[in-house]
Amino acid sequence: MSTKSPRELYTMAKTLGAWDPEKIAIAEDKPHWEVLNPDQREQLIKVCALFYEGEVSVSDTLAWFMLAVPEADRRMFLSTQIYEEVKHAEFFELYFTHVCGKVDTTAYLSPEYKGVLLDELKQRGEDLGRAMTSGQGDLGLQLALFAAHYMGIIEGVMAVGGYDFFEELLDKTGMFPRLLEGIRMIRADEGRHVVHGMDYLREMLEKHPEYAAPVRNLFLSEAAKIPVRSDFVFTKNAFNLDRDRLQTMAFEHHQQRMREAGLA
Ligand SMILES: [Fe+2]
Ligand SMILES: [Fe+2]
Repeated sequence: MSTKSPRELYTMAKTLGAWDPEKIAIAEDKPHWEVLNPDQREQLIKVCALFYEGEVSVSDTLAWFMLAVPEADRRMFLSTQIYEEVKHAEFFELYFTHVCGKVDTTAYLSPEYKGVLLDELKQRGEDLGRAMTSGQGDLGLQLALFAAHYMGIIEGVMAVGGYDFFEELLDKTGMFPRLLEGIRMIRADEGRHVVHGMDYLREMLEKHPEYAAPVRNLFLSEAAKIPVRSDFVFTKNAFNLDRDRLQTMAFEHHQQRMREAGLA
């Protein structure tokens, strides 16, 4: 992962992050959807629903972080990130509308996903907001934990693991070209988010070595949940994907994020 300043990432985002989900010809995937069996539909919907719920949650929560970081360049970059997260959610919303039909995405929030993606992230945002507005508590620590949770785990392990799932699925079946098109745009945006977040986290840990232990604990407790999360996605494994390989890749992403944060 190459390091770029927040200002450089902001400049990139102004052009690269300006793609429009509505301009992708999503409805062209519909015939592919129609030939899937019920178990395959269920598995595809499950992963798309988790993505949708995750993208909505991160869009709703990132404003806390943007308000609390002291550097103006980072706030500029983070404003592009909020906009991009909103568009990522929009892409999945359009995919349901044009391809899968009406989906109750909340039905796919199993406890091992709902906690990390929604409830615990919201809690971190609120903790950050309280530390910022009350002047009490350790704002720096809350910022570091938020970055580890949001950019390290959700974006840097779970989302990239989801892209691996889609790449494998689409590679193997040769289906859903428009889904792949959207995923590749989202993945490119997320690359900037993760670069920024991990650089930020590493700098915070260099300045505050006392934050390393709580941040490391967060990373390790999330690593322990990788197998149960993968169970949820691969029960049933209706597309016969290589679950072991995908799970190994998730652990590798996790290791890489810890290295980038200076923790491994
Ligand atoms: Fe996103
Ligand atoms: Fe993101």
